[in-house]
Amino acid sequence: MGLATAAAFARHGVPTFGYDVVPERRATVRAGHAPFHEDGLEALIRGEVRRGRLTIVESLEELARRASVIFLCLPTPPRSDGRIDLRPIRAGARQLGRALAGVDAFRLVVVKSTVVPGTTESVVGPELRRAAGKGPDQIAVAASPEFLAEGRMVEDALHPDRVVVGVSDPRAVRLVESLYACFESPLLLMAPAAAEMTKYVANSFLAMKISFANELSRFSEQVGIDVDDVARGLGSDRRVGRRFLDAGPGFGGSCFSKDVQAFVRSARDHGVRLRLAGQVMPVNDEQTRHATSLILREIPGTGRRGTAAILGLAFKEGTDDLRESRALPIVEQLAARGVSVRVHDPVASVKFRAWLADQKPSVRRRVTVAATVDEALDGADVAALQVPWPEYLAWSRAWSKRMRHPVLVDLRRAFPIERAKAVGLRLVRLGDGRASVEPPRVPRARSAARTSATVGAFARPTAVGPEAVG
Ligand code: UDX
Repeated sequence: MGLATAAAFARHGVPTFGYDVVPERRATVRAGHAPFHEDGLEALIRGEVRRGRLTIVESLEELARRASVIFLCLPTPPRSDGRIDLRPIRAGARQLGRALAGVDAFRLVVVKSTVVPGTTESVVGPELRRAAGKGPDQIAVAASPEFLAEGRMVEDALHPDRVVVGVSDPRAVRLVESLYACFESPLLLMAPAAAEMTKYVANSFLAMKISFANELSRFSEQVGIDVDDVARGLGSDRRVGRRFLDAGPGFGGSCFSKDVQAFVRSARDHGVRLRLAGQVMPVNDEQTRHATSLILREIPGTGRRGTAAILGLAFKEGTDDLRESRALPIVEQLAARGVSVRVHDPVASVKFRAWLADQKPSVRRRVTVAATVDEALDGADVAALQVPWPEYLAWSRAWSKRMRHPVLVDLRRAFPIERAKAVGLRLVRLGDGRASVEPPRVPRARSAARTSATVGAFARPTAVGPEAVG
């Protein structure tokens, strides 16, 4: 987050200085490399470091001296009670405060980290000023959450839908306005706590939108329709929008579950019960169990002693990030049912091995990390598509032949139906009742006229004719 933000400011022409506590990371970025994989980030960094607009400094003192606006991009990991752990951000604020002690000019410190409403003004500001021995007239604070998604960080950082800044000090407001003048994105100024809450609301709302689609997917399976048709119908309403209505095995990633839980917990700490947001995590867990049940159902007998191949382990496509990936509970649930599980991912296997090493022996002994797709599919009763990597979508007939039962449970509805037919694969699509579940027996309308009359009758029982269709 810090790196993408810094590189984006530099690209927009703002002289930018970066600092990280880890010396190797500073050296990597200074040499024009990204310390992790993210599409387009390395090229952006390299260009800006060469042009001299992005400079990695060796101390916080130097950063505090040279930058008039300083962004704190520190982790806020989850605690077991759902609250966030503020220790890293408190420690960072104290360190920066000490560095600011030697600076005479006015400085604005902006909290980029995801923090619960009130943190910037009641925790970060006081920590900074105490350590610096200065007052609010010399050090102002602001909150500016980031909305970067993995895999599209560069685009999100360069052209955000909006920039949200929570700031109250008038001098700081002017500074923020001039800083963001180079972005064409709308700048939304508000109170710091409102900006902090906006981040939680954005992620909770998106998670809720996915969960809504996920519940719809189970209903769609039962009535014999494709949830994507419903998502298309719903998402074409511009008030709703199509994005984040893709049903799947549940959402993963480091942000959604942590933020939804912290949001609900923070509201509870203020005496407010968020019932809708409070249901997001249980619905998500239920969807993952549903995904597992679709896989189990395809294993002959009770599922015991069968073999399942899980294709794709990351929490979404384009990353090797396993955090909160639904592949992990799916593997655990299958192993708990006695299923032998073979897993494959073109980039996330290394991280998966590390995760597996920490699991109970009952899970470890049932799970094999396959080096190739062929190895994963060999003799399998069922395969499940958890991440739609292009190589999986280019399925060959030879792969179907390797399986004991050529069945693919497509948890993302990404596998081309025509291809499944061409390669002799039975395709079960999550959320698509046409392929996997018999539609309920309802009398079918015989003609178009009859159909519209039926619709009319539903819309307004006493009226007849097209005007009754509402
Ligand atoms: C998210 C937010 O999008 C981003 O704004 C925030 O700053 C960080 O958290 P990220 O976790 O990188 O970003 O991934 P995202 O693309 O939002 O996907 C999260 C999860 O939801 C993935 O597991 C993805 O597969 C799933 N998802 C997403 C769905 O199941 N259906 C959808 O329609 C969209």
